[in-house]
Amino acid sequence: MVSVASVLTLAATAMAAAPVGKYFDNYIFVIMENNDIADVLRSPEYNAYIKAGVEFTDYHGTTHPSQPNYWSTIAQSTFRGIKVSNVSDNDSSDWGQVIDGDNGDDVFDITGVTTIADSLEAAGLSWGIYSENYPGNATNCFLGQGYGTENYPGVDADHQGKTNRLYKRKHNPFVSFTQISGNTARCGAHVFSEKDWAAAVKADKFPDYSFIVPNQVDDAHDFNANTDRTNLTKTDEGIEWSAKWLANFLADVNKSAYLNSRRTLIHVTFDEDDSAYDLNDSTDPAVQATCKDLVNNCPGDKTNNQVYGVLLGSAVSCYTGTTIDGKFDHNSIVATLNDNWGLPSLGNSDSYSAAVWPLKNCPVQHQYQAPAATNLYSAGVKPIAAAAAAVAAALLI
Ligand SMILES: *[C@@H]1O[C@H](CO)[C@@H](O)[C@H](O)[C@H]1NC(C)=O
Ligand SMILES: *[C@@H]1O[C@H](CO)[C@@H](O)[C@H](O)[C@H]1NC(C)=O
Ligand SMILES: *[C@@H]1O[C@H](CO)[C@@H](O)[C@H](O)[C@H]1NC(C)=O
Ligand SMILES: *[C@@H]1O[C@H](CO)[C@@H](O)[C@H](O)[C@H]1NC(C)=O
Ligand SMILES: *[C@@H]1O[C@H](CO)[C@@H](O)[C@H](O)[C@H]1NC(C)=O
Ligand SMILES: *[C@@H]1O[C@H](CO)[C@@H](O)[C@H](O)[C@H]1NC(C)=O
Repeated sequence: MVSVASVLTLAATAMAAAPVGKYFDNYIFVIMENNDIADVLRSPEYNAYIKAGVEFTDYHGTTHPSQPNYWSTIAQSTFRGIKVSNVSDNDSSDWGQVIDGDNGDDVFDITGVTTIADSLEAAGLSWGIYSENYPGNATNCFLGQGYGTENYPGVDADHQGKTNRLYKRKHNPFVSFTQISGNTARCGAHVFSEKDWAAAVKADKFPDYSFIVPNQVDDAHDFNANTDRTNLTKTDEGIEWSAKWLANFLADVNKSAYLNSRRTLIHVTFDEDDSAYDLNDSTDPAVQATCKDLVNNCPGDKTNNQVYGVLLGSAVSCYTGTTIDGKFDHNSIVATLNDNWGLPSLGNSDSYSAAVWPLKNCPVQHQYQAPAATNLYSAGVKPIAAAAAAVAAALLI
């Protein structure tokens, strides 16, 4: 785990050199897993966040399966068609393979490609990725696929004790790029775990750009039997668990004097939808026929990989409760960061078409109004008392 001192150094360096953003000075990205927007919006907490922030009404994942979506968020490409010279999991059958979509969650080492990390560093902006249960540290850049056989409170029996479950390399996109994975010092200075995030919270010092990856349970990927709510589907349960995780995460961020003294933009989304998988996995030939091309977002998928997206934080405090209605996908993140901080185009395959979010320039922080309680729990499910309190707290961010 990185020491508090090195977190302090990181932030101090950034404060000395970082350019001022057009609309925000700090970006915090939280990415959840594999759920349709309709299911996410049944969650009272996720629903409350769109009322307390700025809602994306037409935001999309870029492809299936997961990993290329993560690459899109930092490098504006799914890298489909790229021939990769090697893989670091020692599976020789993958050597020399082309990334074709279906194999998109495999371990690839991508060489010679610029990511947002390179642009941020060149501009004097600090960055870090915080992956929950990441087993590496400052001197050990962990490149394995997954980690641990840990049990997790609330996980149902089917999912207990499974290997490589909580941490997933495919959700830690920066280590796919050899300029990071092949440089232990650079990896150690930017690729962190949730313990390092806790240290940052404690020290109240954060990088300018933070990529937050909850583990396979907290990101709603694995369903779990945690809930005392009634009549939720298993999908709902996973979403509710992640909502509780998110409420706690946001409550910590809210307490940060540092983040609240700057224009902080918190972006919460999901990597991809789930209905494309349901169509692809159906045993009904008629249903299967509607989804012949999962990678290109499955023409039978009526929402075309639409996912939940919201902006929170002091940077949007002057237009909360509004929506951003244009069509955006994960490639728009780097486009918006580039626009905000005056960074150069990455020049990757989806760099040129990516649209920039229409942000406004809020002069100050902390103008949130908590939505009325009746708005919070309109979805007909009973809130867990603790989660409800945490949500109410997080809404004050
Ligand atoms: C690929 O990686 C394996 C395992 O690390 C190594 O033994 C092999 O030499 C590498 N091959 C190439 C072409 O780099
Ligand atoms: C690849 O295999 C070699 C030889 O078995 C081993 O030393 C090395 O640690 C392996 N690398 C990874 C990333 O698993
Ligand atoms: C970093 O990880 C390596 C490999 O697991 C371990 O040997 C080392 O003690 C760790 N260092 C710290 C500071 O935790
Ligand atoms: C769950 O739904 C069923 C069917 O609608 C209903 O009969 C039952 O009372 C519900 N359970 C609770 C605890 O609300
Ligand atoms: C899609 O369905 C096909 C046929 O059942 C299956 O082989 C493939 O693994 C599925 N793809 C994904 C990404 O689930
Ligand atoms: C959120 O931050 C604001 C401003 O610092 C503060 O007034 C409020 O009490 C905080 N809420 C929580 C739950 O910490």
